[in-house]
Amino acid sequence: MRGRFITFEGGEGTGKSTHAAMLGVRLRAFGIRVQLTREPGGSPGAEIMRYILLSGAARPLGGDAEAVLFAAARDDHLTTLIRPALERGTWVVCDRFADSTRIYQGVAGNVDSMAIRAMERIIVGDTKPDLTFILDVPAKEGMRRADQRRGESGADRFEGEALAFHERLRDGFLTLAANEPNRCMLIDATSPKEKVSEQIWRLVLKKLEPATAPIQFEEETV
Ligand code: TYD
Repeated sequence: MRGRFITFEGGEGTGKSTHAAMLGVRLRAFGIRVQLTREPGGSPGAEIMRYILLSGAARPLGGDAEAVLFAAARDDHLTTLIRPALERGTWVVCDRFADSTRIYQGVAGNVDSMAIRAMERIIVGDTKPDLTFILDVPAKEGMRRADQRRGESGADRFEGEALAFHERLRDGFLTLAANEPNRCMLIDATSPKEKVSEQIWRLVLKKLEPATAPIQFEEETV
């Protein structure tokens, strides 16, 4: 039986990585094999592209080229890690995926959305997420949390954008959640971490019924 594909999306400082990890722990306790991963990156080839993108080295090439690089990284990640894992019956929990390209490059970055959809069709094809959590916090609060987490180290390519960019991201994710209510679950991530995690788990139980998945005891990590 094919594994399930769950993605976490949202702006900066919304707690995606924390909640992806917490969900991984809960699923493993159910006897489900879980592959935790992230984008951009998640496979050796894609991690190289992650560095090029987040260091800002690709910025002078323009938004279209950055969108193509995100897609190329995703192609490698899908081919070498995500699809093989799903085929083995492993559940894949991914911190960001194609919705981030739609919103960061498309909505906030002004790359033509038809071009982004076309690339998504080619690269992602049928490997669409079964369930996507969109973690929502006000843009200003998200930036504050991201600043706090970073401490002394500098902002990356996208964290360094102005508040208006982050407001556009938030609106973009809210619109996505409204347009695809079957797949995308909007989560108020200003609530305490335990409450958010509980809400995510209840939705996974309801939507994906992990209790019916075959039990697999071998564990995988990133
Ligand atoms: P990351 O350090 O993983 O941060 P975060 O905790 O915010 O997810 O950085 C990923 C950055 O890359 C983030 O700013 C969003 C951006 N991004 C895009 O612009 N397009 C994409 O398709 C993806 C996957 C990420």
